[in-house]
Amino acid sequence: LYVIHIAAEMAPVAKVGGLGDVVCGLSKALQKKGHLVEIVLPKYDCMQYDRIGDLRALDVVIESYFDGQLFKNKIWVGTVEGLPVYFIEPHHPDKFFWRGDFYGERDDFRRFSYFSRVALEFLLQAGKKPDIIHCHDWQTAFVAPLYWDIYAPKGLNSARICFTCHNFEYQGTAAASELESCGLDSHHLNRPDRMQDNSAHDRVNSVKGGVVYSNIVTTVSPTYAQEVRTAEGGKGLHSTLSTHSKKFIGVLNGIDTDIWNPATDPFLEVQYSANDLQGKAENKEALRKNLGLSSADVKRPLVGCITRLVPQKGVHLIRHAIYLTLELGGQFVLLGSSPVPHIQREFEGIANHFKNHDNIRLILKYDESLSHTIYAASDMFIIPSIFEPCGLTQMISMRYGAVPIARKTGGLNDSVFDIDDDTIPSQFRNGFTFLNADEKGIDGALVRAINLFRDDPESWKQLVQKDMNIDFSWDSSAAQYEELYLKSVTRGRAVKR
Ligand code: ADP
Ligand code: GLC
Repeated sequence: LYVIHIAAEMAPVAKVGGLGDVVCGLSKALQKKGHLVEIVLPKYDCMQYDRIGDLRALDVVIESYFDGQLFKNKIWVGTVEGLPVYFIEPHHPDKFFWRGDFYGERDDFRRFSYFSRVALEFLLQAGKKPDIIHCHDWQTAFVAPLYWDIYAPKGLNSARICFTCHNFEYQGTAAASELESCGLDSHHLNRPDRMQDNSAHDRVNSVKGGVVYSNIVTTVSPTYAQEVRTAEGGKGLHSTLSTHSKKFIGVLNGIDTDIWNPATDPFLEVQYSANDLQGKAENKEALRKNLGLSSADVKRPLVGCITRLVPQKGVHLIRHAIYLTLELGGQFVLLGSSPVPHIQREFEGIANHFKNHDNIRLILKYDESLSHTIYAASDMFIIPSIFEPCGLTQMISMRYGAVPIARKTGGLNDSVFDIDDDTIPSQFRNGFTFLNADEKGIDGALVRAINLFRDDPESWKQLVQKDMNIDFSWDSSAAQYEELYLKSVTRGRAVKR
């Protein structure tokens, strides 16, 4: 198969969260299976250019329509993690990807509808004939209607469209007229069975367009796929997902086990494996030193948390866990940052309050290398999400021998199984879970974890080793995508709306 991903993020060069990890990890796994995989990204000014190999400009200029005018775009090509990636650099007065950040701009709808159109224009003009075009989240969901309404009739018609929604919280809506900028017909599309937002009828919804216009629609775990079919979980799109339920499925993400491998991780003080946990203890010691935490008590459990600080992640429960861990005699390290100013300020306040404390550190920024050292140093790891489409940190933490304490929701429910849950076969039990999104809920799980850590070191060690040996690689999930792609390629071409 020839698969082209069109996306707004790709780790490690342009990563905000798990979307970046998935675009890279899934692509690598598909490439390993022998498929031809390419990625198209915006050429952001804030990318990690040192992680792109052989970056060069192609000898073409792609002209594309926007706001009824033609704009020139330069196309760059480079290699990221062994994958060919095309980067689109618009020559547009709004300097769409020259903003010092990936998202959060007032004109994000325009920025990414522009990008989606140029990406398809490039594929058409370059004569590419992919079997699958895979777009992700609202930023590139525009690809689906653009493909069927404009580009397939123009001759870019070899492909089926796969759309993955990584989070139904973010749907990309705007006044219907905004669609005209990228050349989509707003009258034709502002209909309940097309892109019209299900609650604001004068607005269009990009994710809805992705669902309606794609041949395959996925989200990132089976439990979340169920949750979003309900009025409560679907954030307004549950009825659309029910209408299109035949082509909608949840596929649990994997993690990139080359990047996330404690036995080879270059960011660690000492590499280690399940059979040699001494190295893990040394990483704990090194992190404590690095952050100025007390090293007096080796037995003191270190609780880690690495997250975007947004309501989805259960920020009030994270805050509560910080204080509870201290009360229970543990140490707590949080690495996170927030796009929400009042949450960022609140955590800055807590960080400041504890800045000289022996047992707690809050580091409020995005820091990839530090994240690796925290996974390695932590004994346990909290993920108290209110909802979680998949979640990658529970899988990464297990691979590094940090036992997850997670709320039973979405992908956490499909990957973390309580050690005391008799309904789960014992070989699958790997962490601590709780159901209620309140302080009592997380208290129960955190107390049980810290007690086991303290009272029964042998059982704890066995749990750590078991978690480190679980296969969270992309192999089986990539095989599911492969099957979905193949099925859709052999079926009729045009998408049914
Ligand atoms: P989401 O995509 O909703 O943020 P995921 O669990 O899917 O959540 O993925 C989060 C990814 O981002 C993980 O790879 C995690 O290690 C990383 N991450 C989150 N916050 C930070 C941070 N402050 N610094 C470094 N990495 C982070
Ligand atoms: C989104 C979700 C997260 C998921 C990630 C990758 O950011 O919030 O749960 O793991 O996408 O699919």
